[in-house]
Parts: sequence; structure tokens; C-alpha cells
Amino acid sequence: MPPAVSQPVVAKLTRAAIFLVATINPGQDNDVIVRQVCADLSGLLRAVGFRDLESRLSCVMGFGSQAWDRLFGAPRPKDLHPFREIHGVYDALATPGDILLHVRSTRMDICFEVASQIVSRLGGAVTVVDEVHGFKYFDDRDLLGFVDGTENPVDQDALDAAIIGDEDAAFAGGSYVITQKYLHDLARWNAKPVEEQERIIGRAKLSDIEQDDAVKASYAHNVLTNIEEDGRQLQIVRDNMPFGEIGKGEFGTYFIGYARSPRPIEQMLENMFVGLPAGNYDRLLDVSRAVTGTLFFVPSATFLDNVSPDVAAPDAAAAVDAPTPLSTAAGKAASRAPGLGGDGSLGIGSLKKEG
Ligand code: HEM
Repeated sequence: MPPAVSQPVVAKLTRAAIFLVATINPGQDNDVIVRQVCADLSGLLRAVGFRDLESRLSCVMGFGSQAWDRLFGAPRPKDLHPFREIHGVYDALATPGDILLHVRSTRMDICFEVASQIVSRLGGAVTVVDEVHGFKYFDDRDLLGFVDGTENPVDQDALDAAIIGDEDAAFAGGSYVITQKYLHDLARWNAKPVEEQERIIGRAKLSDIEQDDAVKASYAHNVLTNIEEDGRQLQIVRDNMPFGEIGKGEFGTYFIGYARSPRPIEQMLENMFVGLPAGNYDRLLDVSRAVTGTLFFVPSATFLDNVSPDVAAPDAAAAVDAPTPLSTAAGKAASRAPGLGGDGSLGIGSLKKEG
């Protein structure tokens, strides 16, 4: 069997992005609509993306832990759980989120078009609880003035860091993603001498050159987010974006990190918010407040393409005491795994939809 095709988790960084987090409204009818949109997503992306292939449109769709059970039931990805709050020197709070849409393109109008199309299909089935329009700032800088993304793994290293393999074979090709929306106190940051800012990040501000290990502060951002296991660095794939609203005095960084397990990102957060050792926390947090915190599973594109809108998860069906709905296609009616392809497998194979 050919391997499942992943969603474009490791898509190249773009100049524009939209991050949409939504909750699914109560009612089984709404689950059916969401499952229908899962199956339609690749077609929508082809339709909008074809209008300008150069714009490198991509969209990743992820699901929160509770939403997974509600929409797809068993089997479930083995490391999927709600965002784990951290209470340290600062707090990393969990906020609601059933669905994540991470739309990327070189053009904001293309991002806007596809996000509008998807949300219009979802209609009253969901409530958008957070929407951020991110932009690249000069040479990939965050609003603190530092280049953000330099040490991201690329090519095979990015796939190795972000895409699930044999460790959870039923969900191979999937990924986990953690998002946090940070608001910066820019006046406080800009009042700090550049040398202090550089100690906090661990890199030179203008040239982006990494500081020598011998001079790096123990609390530098790139020390606390450096996680090793058995002598090997555990990497994640980030695609942070600046955003803001000038009139409101809102200046932010939308953090988004993908990994094949939530564990490395959770460890980085622990080091940042609690400190390593405890108390030696990330000074970025003195000027950056995390106002959201969510964890999603990103199934493979193959999985999404084969979602069957009318097949409810058994638990969800039992909960509302409803008869098991009929599947749309005869093949899909034979599905043994709810919400999956007609052969009861992950539907690995052609990405083309049946007519
Ligand atoms: C206020 C939010 C944040 C800002 C402004 C920020 C900014 C930066 C900057 C400027 C760099 C150095 C350049 C680079 O390699 O990308 C960096 C590196 C990094 N950040 Fe963040 N970051 C934020 C939050 C986070 C969070 C929440 C995590 C993980 C949970 C994280 C993980 C990393 C990692 C892994 C690196 C690379 C470290 C290395 O290997 O050198 N960052 N970040």
C-alpha cells in the first residue's frame, strides 16, 4: 500500500497566513457538516489555488482532542490530548478549539478567499473563536525586531521532525500542532538595550548570527528551547507570524509549532514558563503574554479525503441515542472504522475522490 499523503505541514514559509480556530456547535447535524468539509477540503484548495499557482496556497486542518472523538471516534492518535496548561513564573493557559485552519500563501487575498470559502461551507456548524491574519515583517522578523525561523529544520529534517511514522502506524503521515497567540508589550521591550534583547534571544539582532555558547545566557530563548534526547536535538517545525492592530495597540506573535509528538513542544514550554532549572525562565515572557493555548492533531490528507460525512463516531451516536446513519456510498457503508474509507482502512491510496 502506498504511504498516506501528509497535509502540507512542512510547506515553505510564506509572506501571509491566516490562523482560524473554531469550536463545533452542539448537535450531530453539525458533525456531519464538518465531516463533509473535511472531505471537500482538497477540492476547495485546488479550486482557489489554481487561480494563481505561484501563490503556493496551502491549508492545514487540525482537530482538538474532544472534537476527534466526536467526529471520528476510535481509533484515535495515541498522543492526542487537550493542551496542557503550565503554571510557572508565567501561565500558559488552555483555550477552546475544536478545529484549526492554518492557511498559507504568498498572497493575503488568496488566504482570505480560501478561509472564507471554508468557513462559509462550515456555516452555522462552527463558531470561530479566534482569527489572526499574519504577515511577514521585513526579512522574516517578529515585531520584537529579531529574525524568526532561522533554525527551523528544512527538507527531510523537517519531515523527520514533524511527520508521524511507524510509532503510530494507523496515523502515519499525521502531525501534532500547538498554537499560542502572544501579545507583546513593545514599549517595555523597546526600552531594553539591544544587548539585553540579544541575551534574551541568544542571537545578534541585526545580523541574526547565533551567540557563542560561551557567552549565551542560561535563560536565552534558544537555550531553553533546545531539547535533547539521547544526545540528539529534538526539532520542531515553526511558522510564527507577526500580527497586530495598531489602533488597539496590539502587537503580537502567533506561535505555531508542528511535531510528530507533542512532547518536545511541551518540554520547551515547560522550560520557558517554569524555567530550567525552575525560576530560570524565558525573559521573552516578561514582554509577551500568551492569551491562547491549543493542541490539535493533523491527520494525513489521505485521511481527510476519505472522511465519510454521514458516518458518526459510535460514541457520539450513542450519546445522543441516534440510529447509525447510512453512509452515502455503498463502499463507504462497508466501513468498519467510523469516518474512514470504505475498506475500513485509513483509505490510503489515490487522493482522487470517488464520483
Ligand atoms: C513570543 C513568542 C516567540 C517569539 C517572539 C519567538 C522568537 C524566536 C526567535 C527570534 C528565535 C531565533 C531564530 C530562530 O531560530 O527562529 C526563536 C527560536 C526558536 N524558538 Fe521561539 N519564539 C517564540 C515562542 C516560542 C515558543 C512558544 C516555542 C516552543 C514551545 C519556541 C521555540 C523555538 C525554537 C525551538 C527555536 C530554535 C532554537 C534553536 O535551535 O536555536 N519559540 N524563537
